[in-house]
Amino acid sequence: MTRIFSGVKPTGHLTLGNYLGAVRQWVAAEQEPDEALFCVVDLHALTVEHDPARVRRLSRQAATLLLAAGLTPEKCTLFVQSHVDEHARLSYLLECTASDGELRRMVQYKEKAAKAQGSGEGVRLSLLTYPVLMAADILAYRTGEVPVGEDQRQHVELTRDLAVRFNQRYGYTFTVPKATHPVVAARVMDLQDPRSKMGKSGDAGPGVVFILDEPEAVRKKVMRAVTDSDGGVVYEPAARPGVANLLDILAACTGGEPAALADGYTGYGALKRDVADAVVELLRPVRVRHAELAADPGTVEAVLRAGAGRARAIARPVVDSAYRAIGLLEP
Ligand code: TYM
Repeated sequence: MTRIFSGVKPTGHLTLGNYLGAVRQWVAAEQEPDEALFCVVDLHALTVEHDPARVRRLSRQAATLLLAAGLTPEKCTLFVQSHVDEHARLSYLLECTASDGELRRMVQYKEKAAKAQGSGEGVRLSLLTYPVLMAADILAYRTGEVPVGEDQRQHVELTRDLAVRFNQRYGYTFTVPKATHPVVAARVMDLQDPRSKMGKSGDAGPGVVFILDEPEAVRKKVMRAVTDSDGGVVYEPAARPGVANLLDILAACTGGEPAALADGYTGYGALKRDVADAVVELLRPVRVRHAELAADPGTVEAVLRAGAGRARAIARPVVDSAYRAIGLLEP
């Protein structure tokens, strides 16, 4: 049996990218006989400028949305990262395993640090060490598979390197995990800027579809998506990223294949209408279920409390064994 672990960061409202790249795979993974843990990684939301009340609100909303999307507490463990101390405990040991250079090479660090510097904010030290905490999230559960979007590939690679290094130095302690990505829509792009990832941090962005957007808002954003000046509908991600992104989204929603879907269209208008319809229908049940669950916060809280208990029971012995292996005395 493989253990699966993945997480989402409450730094903004969840997007269509989060749904297609990650959450939908989680719901599918939960149907397998494997053991699955999913986590709202709230500690990661503190690595950039944040408003405490907003982080609390978004953490609750993310957990509610994951349940609305179809995760079931009977089949998986859903919890909040800060409720399980083992993540932070293990992170320190992995900081003693990682090197400064390998963290400075992380693409997301370079991008986010440049942005923070450009806006006059300082770069928080935790932004640099973030991938180590992510490695701790994964390794604390002896995870085998990490279902994520394409943008997390480098972080999971680092996690593997740290697991191997720790095991070599101190004796076998961690399972070496591997990332899994969806076949299509592993990297959903911004509808206004199809060379950039659709990201949740740019809230209210006209190129970002949020899972909880009203159907009218979804339609408006899709119909205004930037395409290419060349009129034909062909699937060429490098040369024509706008159209390729729409075809990827359509394929992910309908189960088709992007290049084959392109053959069915002669103009952008019809393609956009079909994408809008498909996205609205895909998200509708999630939105409806979210409204029901949000009206019953006690249920969500109970799920998270039980989840944290189960997660702790798995992580505690693993992290304890890492403490012993690295040379720390038993208390
Ligand atoms: P986060 O919160 O940015 O995103 C959550 C998940 O959604 C995927 N994703 C996308 N997939 C396709 N297209 C997009 N535009 C898109 N945007 C986001 C991400 O790849 C991710 O799978 N570092 C992680 C959170 C994390 C984590 C972990 C994940 C912390 N610890 C341990 C797995 C295991 C992050 O920032 O995800």
